[in-house]
Amino acid sequence: MDAPNSSPAGNHAVFEGDLSAPDPIPQEGIDAAVRLMRDGRLFRYGEDRTSLPEAALLEEEFAAYMGTRFCAGVNSGGCALFIALKACGVSPGDKVLVNAFTLAPVPGAIAHAGGEAVLVDITERFVIDIDDLDRKARDSGARYLMVSYMRGHIPDMDAVMEVCRRHDLTVIEDCAHTMGASWDGRMTGTFGKAACFSAQTFKHVNSGEGGLVVTDDEDVAARAILLSGSYMLYAQHRARPDLDVFERHRYDMPNCSMRMSSLVAAVLRPQVRLIDERSAKWRQIHAELAGLLDRIPHITVPPRPEKEQFVPSSLQFSLEGLSDEEIETFLSIAIERGVHVKWFGAPEPAGFTSRHDHWRYLGKATGVPKADAVLHGLCDMRLPIWLTSHDCKTIAAVLGEAMVEAANA
Ligand SMILES: Cc1ncc(COP(=O)(O)O)c(C=O)c1O
Repeated sequence: MDAPNSSPAGNHAVFEGDLSAPDPIPQEGIDAAVRLMRDGRLFRYGEDRTSLPEAALLEEEFAAYMGTRFCAGVNSGGCALFIALKACGVSPGDKVLVNAFTLAPVPGAIAHAGGEAVLVDITERFVIDIDDLDRKARDSGARYLMVSYMRGHIPDMDAVMEVCRRHDLTVIEDCAHTMGASWDGRMTGTFGKAACFSAQTFKHVNSGEGGLVVTDDEDVAARAILLSGSYMLYAQHRARPDLDVFERHRYDMPNCSMRMSSLVAAVLRPQVRLIDERSAKWRQIHAELAGLLDRIPHITVPPRPEKEQFVPSSLQFSLEGLSDEEIETFLSIAIERGVHVKWFGAPEPAGFTSRHDHWRYLGKATGVPKADAVLHGLCDMRLPIWLTSHDCKTIAAVLGEAMVEAANA
């Protein structure tokens, strides 16, 4: 059989594919982008004559996909988080609970909104720890929870929402890694007051940069649209509340100039239609690779609960029983042989990967001992959607051989 992404070089497996290669834009998106460039009206609003309504259509289509009333497109996932926090009422000095395992733009957005992040511990399945959430909600007096479904891992949302109801917490969901995912049949992004998505190149949809905020709350929606920088042109939105709702907010919301461009929307619209088809493919790749990796000594891929319908564009595993030196040897052999694995336990932040104790601007963090232990062994790799069954076997062979060499070195 043809095996383009593997090579028998030497006597060990090598993966020749590029795990960092982005997914191409569907032809329909390319055509729409070209049409728009010919027209020249890349800004989403028109003044005398309206522009092509790509952004408004995307928002309408994404809201329909999510089953939410409103949607606002913005310029990045991080800005979506910032806008959602502000639109939900976060003011300077407000405490915002957030799970300690997340990516740098999440505490970044909280800081940007003037909030103070209160880190909540995680479990060995990489999700927020319910008991610690309960404790920290009580002890900190926070009124907000940013629940970040980091790398697509979804906590028991019934338990999370129960704690939030008890402590009257406003929930904002970071769905940067859960587009199309659900918990017990309910889509992530529909549990809280507002939810945020990213369209950055390595997410489930790719427009380079881009973000979406969804909500069912008309005041949050109007504030989000105004904050995103709609000027007084918000009537051109489609997935928006009635115009009289804007009257309540239009003198009070700063214009933060975080708009989505029509070009981004044009590229994204056909991708929204593909989410479910792509999710099924990602789940198939993940299931195959997870099964293979879990057989390698020192590697554990935590099982996923049945209620968690996840969309795995990446795979995480824990390394156990290895010294830091052995982990470093394992990673460097794997990388040398074409499998780029990232390590959350590395002492220094590198590339996209950093950890809560690297975010020193947070000040004195509340203790998250389980997160410290879990992150120490946590590895992460991207799963491009084009991976074949043969690719999965080659990747597993590379990691298996790297482990034998590292653990016996
Ligand atoms: C968990 C998480 N949330 C939010 C973001 C922010 O998205 P963006 O890169 O679009 O700003 C990212 C980005 O990688 C992320 O990983």
